[in-house]
Amino acid sequence: MRSILFVCLGNICRSPTAEGLMLNHLAAAGLSHLAQVDSAGTGGWHTGDPPDPRAIAAARRRGVDLSPLRARQVRKTDFSEFDLIVGMDRQNVADLRRMAPASSTARVGLCLEEALGIANEVPDPYYEDDRAFDAVFDLCDRAVRAFIEKIHAKS
Ligand code: 4NP
Repeated sequence: MRSILFVCLGNICRSPTAEGLMLNHLAAAGLSHLAQVDSAGTGGWHTGDPPDPRAIAAARRRGVDLSPLRARQVRKTDFSEFDLIVGMDRQNVADLRRMAPASSTARVGLCLEEALGIANEVPDPYYEDDRAFDAVFDLCDRAVRAFIEKIHAKS
């Protein structure tokens, strides 16, 4: 697995948090050349938007800058350009499987399951408070560290 696409519903809360964390940790470890990382939403309502201010704030509290990221929707070519596409919750994964073209070569799965073997979701924080955004950050951090270990081990 060399390329990974993180996917949630809006691409403004969970998946950009995972993308920003992975870019940050890869750079800190001098491993940016090992992996290609992006994020996208199954929905397109927030296309072009920066992450939600609450997601930016939660990441900033932990030293990660999400502000340059911009939302986009999943596209058919993602299924041949990425080795691994992970959804944050089961609905994301179901939507991804439905969007996948017949020519898809990507492995599609649940983020925490692919990373850690834990069949849990990263819950949608959109209608929740700051604690939910901190919890999303922590879950994404664990997942991303596990993905980087896997990639590093194979390099
Ligand atoms: P995300 O959170 O999927 O983690 O980016 C959401 C963002 C926006 C909406 C729902 C969830 N929305 O309904 O606009």
